[in-house]
Amino acid sequence: MNALFEDIEFVENPLYERIINDIVTQKYAVVEDFFTAEEISVLRQSLIAKHEEDVFKKAAIGNRVNEIIVKSIRGDVILWIDEAHTNAAESLFFNKINHLITYLNKTCFLGILRKEFHYALYPTGTFYKRHIDTFQNDDRRKLSFVCYLNEAGWLPENGGELVLYLDDQGMEVEKIIYPFPGRVVIFESQIIEHEVRPVKTERLSITGWLKTR
Ligand code: OGA
Ligand code: MN
Repeated sequence: MNALFEDIEFVENPLYERIINDIVTQKYAVVEDFFTAEEISVLRQSLIAKHEEDVFKKAAIGNRVNEIIVKSIRGDVILWIDEAHTNAAESLFFNKINHLITYLNKTCFLGILRKEFHYALYPTGTFYKRHIDTFQNDDRRKLSFVCYLNEAGWLPENGGELVLYLDDQGMEVEKIIYPFPGRVVIFESQIIEHEVRPVKTERLSITGWLKTR
């Protein structure tokens, strides 16, 4: 395939362009319509079914080489999703993620070659203290991606807000993002400190990272 043909094939995607523009200008993007309501519903059912099978693990601090469970820092339970063994909901999830990655690599030269995603469930009373998503022995995470799978009609009073700590000309500002169902948040893993405030109603999500090699 020659370069000219690739140019002809490229179709600008307004949603992706908006995401890229927001990440470039403010280091994060919030998207309401990345997935359809139907897709969110099947992903939510998939998470619930797997949680009922009791295959979720206490989340760890650090990576898989360096797992230490620290309940005072985070209280969610997680299940990694294996792209080689997906159900229907997960394969539609990865189709969209892969489409986004292809677009990012064509337009932004980010060099995203790997990804990792897990389901997360925060039981009532749990939280994830302020942190950054890159670890001492894994600086390959470039973009963090969170998609909320909460019940329709989720209320701000249910807690579990994602708080991004942003820098505004040297002043720290808090950007509070409610985990409304279907909402997707993407942010720069190496820059943005963030936390999940205490959850008052069980909180469901898929979280993952787009990584360089
Ligand atoms: C994480 C995380 C944010 C959220 O899993 O590292 O910060 O809103 N999640 O669930
Ligand atoms: Mn995080």
